[in-house]
Amino acid sequence: MSMELELVPVTKDDAEKILMFIRLGKDYFKDLDFEERERFMQSILSRLGEPDRWLFLLKYQNEYVGLAHVKIDKSERPGWGFILEFYIVPSKRRMGLGRKFFSLIEDLLRSKGVKDIWLLATEAIPFWCSLGFRLTGEIDKETGQMILTKSLRSADNSSLES
Ligand SMILES: CC(C)(COP(=O)(O)OP(=O)(O)OC[C@H]1O[C@@H](n2cnc3c(N)ncnc32)[C@H](O)[C@@H]1OP(=O)(O)O)[C@@H](O)C(=O)NCCC(=O)NCCS
Repeated sequence: MSMELELVPVTKDDAEKILMFIRLGKDYFKDLDFEERERFMQSILSRLGEPDRWLFLLKYQNEYVGLAHVKIDKSERPGWGFILEFYIVPSKRRMGLGRKFFSLIEDLLRSKGVKDIWLLATEAIPFWCSLGFRLTGEIDKETGQMILTKSLRSADNSSLES
């Protein structure tokens, strides 16, 4: 399975991957109206190439099956990893791909010295909790979503212990 799974960064001059992000984004952002969705996707794409910010596609068996937008936070929780967008296509859910996708992202963030990760969620809370995130009890004022966090330190400790 690991050979079939690839974390693919979307870069500024790679039209094929940008188109794939837009295609997957149409479903991910389907709750937004057309204009809002276009504006939002453009705002993400316009920031490509900024340091400590990544747009990833997940490739599985030669097919693009997911997207993620990740950064190292500079404002609310400086130095923390922040997952802004995360998505697996509906036809490939509950196969463990989301878990593996996150694990690849976690490895990248850990390699950058990140010690904690945070994100906002509603429907996906059971997914994030199954990956070791905890509800902080805080609610994001702007979106009304729940704030979840995960420490990478305890994972370091447990891997040392085992
Ligand atoms: C959330 C999402 C990324 C999960 O991806 P996935 O590939 O289906 O997740 P996995 O198969 O790796 O699931 C891992 C574990 O998470 C939990 N989980 C995943 N989806 C779940 C669901 N819908 N309900 C309850 N638990 C769920 C389960 O414990 C699962 O393990 P199991 O299948 O052995 O029971 C996917 O459903 C999705 O893209 N949803 C729409 C976009 C979204 O909500 N993104 C998150 C933004 S914060």
